[in-house]
Amino acid sequence: MLVGLAIWVTYDLLQTEHAVVRNFPVIGHFRYWLEGIGPELRQYILTDNDAERPFSRDQRRWIYSTAKGQNSSFGFGSDNEMETAEHYVLLKQAAFPYRAPAPHGDSGEQVAPHITIDRLPAAKVLGGARGRARAFRPPSAVNISGMSFGSLSGRAVEAMNRGAAAAGCLHNTGEGGLSPHHQHGGELIFQVGTGYFGCRDEHGRFSLERLQTLVDQHPVRAIEVKLSQGAKPGLGALLPAAKVTPEIARIRGVPAHVDCESPPSHAEFSDADSLLDFVESIAEGTGLPVGIKSAVGEEAFWHDLAGLMEAGDRGIDFITVDGGEGGTGAGPLVFTDHVALPFKIGFARVYRSFAERGIADRVTFVGSGKLGLPQNALVAFALGCDMVHVGREAMLAAGCIQSQRCHTGLCPTGVATQSRRLARGLDPASKSVRVASYVRALRGELLALAHAAGVPHPALVSADQLEVTDGRLGASTVRELFDYEPGWGVPAVDPEELEVLLSASAAD
Ligand SMILES: Cc1cc2nc3c(=O)[nH]c(=O)nc-3n(C[C@H](O)[C@H](O)[C@H](O)COP(=O)(O)O)c2cc1C
Ligand code: SF4
Repeated sequence: MLVGLAIWVTYDLLQTEHAVVRNFPVIGHFRYWLEGIGPELRQYILTDNDAERPFSRDQRRWIYSTAKGQNSSFGFGSDNEMETAEHYVLLKQAAFPYRAPAPHGDSGEQVAPHITIDRLPAAKVLGGARGRARAFRPPSAVNISGMSFGSLSGRAVEAMNRGAAAAGCLHNTGEGGLSPHHQHGGELIFQVGTGYFGCRDEHGRFSLERLQTLVDQHPVRAIEVKLSQGAKPGLGALLPAAKVTPEIARIRGVPAHVDCESPPSHAEFSDADSLLDFVESIAEGTGLPVGIKSAVGEEAFWHDLAGLMEAGDRGIDFITVDGGEGGTGAGPLVFTDHVALPFKIGFARVYRSFAERGIADRVTFVGSGKLGLPQNALVAFALGCDMVHVGREAMLAAGCIQSQRCHTGLCPTGVATQSRRLARGLDPASKSVRVASYVRALRGELLALAHAAGVPHPALVSADQLEVTDGRLGASTVRELFDYEPGWGVPAVDPEELEVLLSASAAD
């Protein structure tokens, strides 16, 4: 009996597939057993498949199955109420769906029921409008959102980076600097936060020189200046001295074992005008496209920014709008629940500021905030996003079970912890395969939805093609709901050029 138990424990400790079992041998199996009989239990006793938040059981099931490369089709039809549900999104498919040219060569592309695609290039060239020296077309319209080493374990960051490399998408470093865990082949967006970690001088001020050195030494393709984050806008952050390990201190450029503060706002600029100067100086100094990330609160800032950009002599290459429903490693409940506009409302206001001035095509718009699900991402594209960034969904793909204990440092799956013991449970090699598989599947389903809508690329799905139910057997188009003018939300790109790009990506 004891020998059997010892063998079982040893096996659990050595296997790499299930982080929970690796961290909690034997008892960890109960979680999978309970998950397995969950549908039957819920049918009679507990909640339905859409009840849990932030990601419902069905949503997580879709992410887990795509991450594992399993068939993500569900049998017996939808279990969702549609006609009397409120805010239910529906795509009005074209009578004659788009027929994609047959892929040449071995693309890795599959057709339904489990759809994946190796690349889905963004519809716009990042930095193209301002002629940046290192402008480029992102190979993937789905990328991994900023989540710092510090809030995520080194092994989770490594899984994200390897996953990004395998899926051919970009990996945002988050504001905690560029760590060795970010150096596993994935191309990066380097995030500049208020603490200027990784690009600060000895007095804690931003250093362009240090940033230049950093981007010269690593595969950084773009810089993102973070103004705020949906889950905790207007707040700084403090990494307590106990967590400022020598490794984190070295990466951030701060002293070890001393409280490490991210102030609530930037020291280098204080309004739209000085922000534009800051962005231009970084773009000039590095040649890279430079964007901002922000949650949406007061609107005056966005009007100022768009107004100043209208002149055409300065500009921001991309704007990442983070919804108030976005995630964080730790944030006060009142901020996560009640500060900043949710994605759709906030994004539509920002987009409007640029569209009304006729300059929306000068900016690449990026969305984040539960957009790692095909139906949510499609609404974002229809509202004018050119790319979506996925945060927690990529964490789920890497093994997160939504236990919502990230702030305690006791993450049972090793994703959001600095505990060596718990992080050991996460095997970066196998989890990176899952992250990549999930990203490919999301791209594949987005492309399939675009084709059903009669267009070759999700960026070309218009706000007229999606409807949202009102709970009273009625529905309005996304264009009506957000008061968009005809043509808003769809970039002025040549559909034929996109077709060529897509078939080229299939051939690669
Ligand atoms: C653990 C964790 C850490 C995060 N760290 C950062 C960060 O360093 N910088 C940032 O801009 N956003 C950060 N975010 C926010 C995400 O990048 C993203 O904007 C947000 O979670 C919404 O996307 P999602 O709904 O796909 O998770 C973090 C989110 C989580 C869950
Ligand atoms: S603590 Fe829970 S929610 Fe946070 S990353 Fe770990 S498993 Fe996911």
